[in-house]
Amino acid sequence: MGRETNLIHGLPEPFKIKVVEPLVVPSPERRKEAIREAGYNTFLLRSDDVYIDLLTDSGTAAMSDNQWAGMMLGDEAYAGSKNFYTLEKSIQDVLGFPYIVPTHQGRGAEHLISRALIKKPGLLVPRNMYFTTSKEHVELQGASMPDVVIDEAHDPESMLPFKGNVDIAKLKKVIEQNGAEKIAFVYVEMNVNMAGGQPVSMANAREVSKLCKEKGIKLVFDATRSSENAFFIKEREEGYAKKTVVEILNELMGYADACIYSAKKDCLVNIGGFIGTRDIGIFEATREMVVTYEGLHTYGGMAGRDMEAVARGLREGAQYEYLKYRIGQTNYLGKMLMDAGVPIVKPVGSHAVFLNALKFVPHIPREQWPSQALAAAIYEDSAVRSMERGAVSKGRDKNTKENIFPKLELVRLTIPRRVYTNTHMEYVAESIIHLHEHKDEIKGLKMVYEPPALRFFQAKFEQV
Ligand code: F0G
Repeated sequence: MGRETNLIHGLPEPFKIKVVEPLVVPSPERRKEAIREAGYNTFLLRSDDVYIDLLTDSGTAAMSDNQWAGMMLGDEAYAGSKNFYTLEKSIQDVLGFPYIVPTHQGRGAEHLISRALIKKPGLLVPRNMYFTTSKEHVELQGASMPDVVIDEAHDPESMLPFKGNVDIAKLKKVIEQNGAEKIAFVYVEMNVNMAGGQPVSMANAREVSKLCKEKGIKLVFDATRSSENAFFIKEREEGYAKKTVVEILNELMGYADACIYSAKKDCLVNIGGFIGTRDIGIFEATREMVVTYEGLHTYGGMAGRDMEAVARGLREGAQYEYLKYRIGQTNYLGKMLMDAGVPIVKPVGSHAVFLNALKFVPHIPREQWPSQALAAAIYEDSAVRSMERGAVSKGRDKNTKENIFPKLELVRLTIPRRVYTNTHMEYVAESIIHLHEHKDEIKGLKMVYEPPALRFFQAKFEQV
């Protein structure tokens, strides 16, 4: 299926550097102390103690001169800021949604959509794999989130080009077994984060949309990484090679009734989010609520200058040459690791390289949090900060309170956009390859503090 990508590994950066932020590498002694103080949780490290920060691609991008220039045009009027209208136009052009509701970031949008569409407890929101905050907001409204992604998404070795696809048979089964009235909405994530940054194909989006229409169920996209998803459609799906990323995005988004969007990723900004919709009911419901939870409906928690940066960033982040470099850099890191025999999720996704902890540290039992232990060991080795994406992130079953051990137990090396050079990627690869050669020395962890919700952010551990 599909055709070969034409990515070149480690494309030269399509920009030059105007401002630099000096970095220091903390000493080995300080690293050992810092990770112990942080309870072996990389979220609790101070960024001063980090050399290369691959915790997340969220809010960590370097803005362009054009975006910074836009920041100076911030109209900080409480109501009707001109930057809101620029943002609205940019979303209409790039994504094709006529109505928008701004929010402070993605989870603000997740909150409003979940409140608007989950009208009573006990409903279902099928999704192509959970994302932490999306699931939390669905569960806070009393609904649950059955997984309807294809089986291959849970297999780090499967090389399918669209591993984020919805399994139509699974989705049909959920609808048939429960009745369409029990489905609050279908949630489809672009470039599925927890699966390794794996895209959804246009054909799959079309099919899900058709099914939802037949059954009278609303379809909402988590379009957070949709520009990167669109790049993969252009590269891999027949019939799209000659289309622009924006044309692809317009078609793709055309299948959804609404989207939630964290602008902190593909829009190349440090803060922001929104809901885009073509459904007047969803628009009115979320616009009414935004004033209670986020801010007036023409700023939703963003400053005027932030909205301007998002408006410009959405357009920049959908440029083919930029995306080719961006995804090429991720691929470069992935290839260096693969060539050295380090177990990673394949194929390499857009925003991160995911290490397969179950293969990397097979001597650590799952009850001793192998991904968490591996992320801590990487920091100690090289001051590179990564993130656990396994059982700690997954949390406990809401009913039985038991830990859930997902099939994928991963460490995410997430690449901020336009921030690090390819030489930085070589440093990261060198450290991880070295660690892989000494993996037997990595020790398991026990959890000594566990917050009740989204525990991965603040949990603390000790070495066993
Ligand atoms: N949806 C997806 C797919 C995400 O990856 C995120 C955030 C959100 C929604 C929530 O957006 O952070 O702006 O509130 N992901 C970040 C990450 C935190 O590191 O993957 P937010």
